[in-house]
Amino acid sequence: KSCAAIVLAAGQGKRMGGQIHKQFLELEGHPIVYYSIRAFQESPLIDQILLVTGETEIDYVKHEIVEKYHFDKVSVVVAGGHERYASVWNGLKALEKSLSEEEKDGFVFIHDGVRPFVNEEILRRAFDAVEAYHACVVGMPSKDTVKIADADGFVSETPSRSRVWNVQTPQVFDFRLAYKAYAALEQSGRSDVTDDAMIVEAFTDTKVKLVEGSYENIKLTTPEDLKIAATFLHNRK
Ligand code: CTP
Ligand code: MG
Repeated sequence: KSCAAIVLAAGQGKRMGGQIHKQFLELEGHPIVYYSIRAFQESPLIDQILLVTGETEIDYVKHEIVEKYHFDKVSVVVAGGHERYASVWNGLKALEKSLSEEEKDGFVFIHDGVRPFVNEEILRRAFDAVEAYHACVVGMPSKDTVKIADADGFVSETPSRSRVWNVQTPQVFDFRLAYKAYAALEQSGRSDVTDDAMIVEAFTDTKVKLVEGSYENIKLTTPEDLKIAATFLHNRK
């Protein structure tokens, strides 16, 4: 079956701070998003990549990333929206226009462009799971105990740690299922969404399978994450 990837790079990186949007900060001489795209470019599972970036960043991305690194699987670069889910929805709508009917029977991998440590093993496990279950999300069991707070900042619940996962990306779905879920989200007007799986959970009957990612598949969110990423990259060499 056909596999398309949506790589997200339309965020503002507010928690990272600084002038440059974090997906374009350089690590070992290459922008962070380069490493994320490369994993999909090099994966035999992936047929095409759609990039979502800021409206004013499209030219830069086309020239300084897609052309420069010969990412020939990148078929489209589109502008994102105000929230992550709006950027994903823009990507899904663009794919709906560009994919053939047969390709729409395939899968879509949705990935944060600021998770440069995704690798082929993770993509393979996610592919196997989406084939079997139609929807899956990569993650890892939580290392910390998690507390649910009430509105006043007191603990209201402590879920059993063995059942708590921290989710990562890619989150992978039957293309048509993801499209249907996001269309329903738009209809609903809901905006309290932080990942793709939530939308499938809320608006479809399909159960989302949890798949093992990696503790290295971190999202670069705050400045200290850059130091961790530099260490990971250094150790790889
Ligand atoms: N993203 C996006 N469009 C948005 C918001 C986020 O494409 N409107 C992307 C980011 O570029 C990133 C991924 O979604 O690859 C995960 O989001 P996050 O870590 O929250 O990135 P930012 O939104 O850029 O950071 P912050 O929330 O700190 O501003
Ligand atoms: Mg954000």
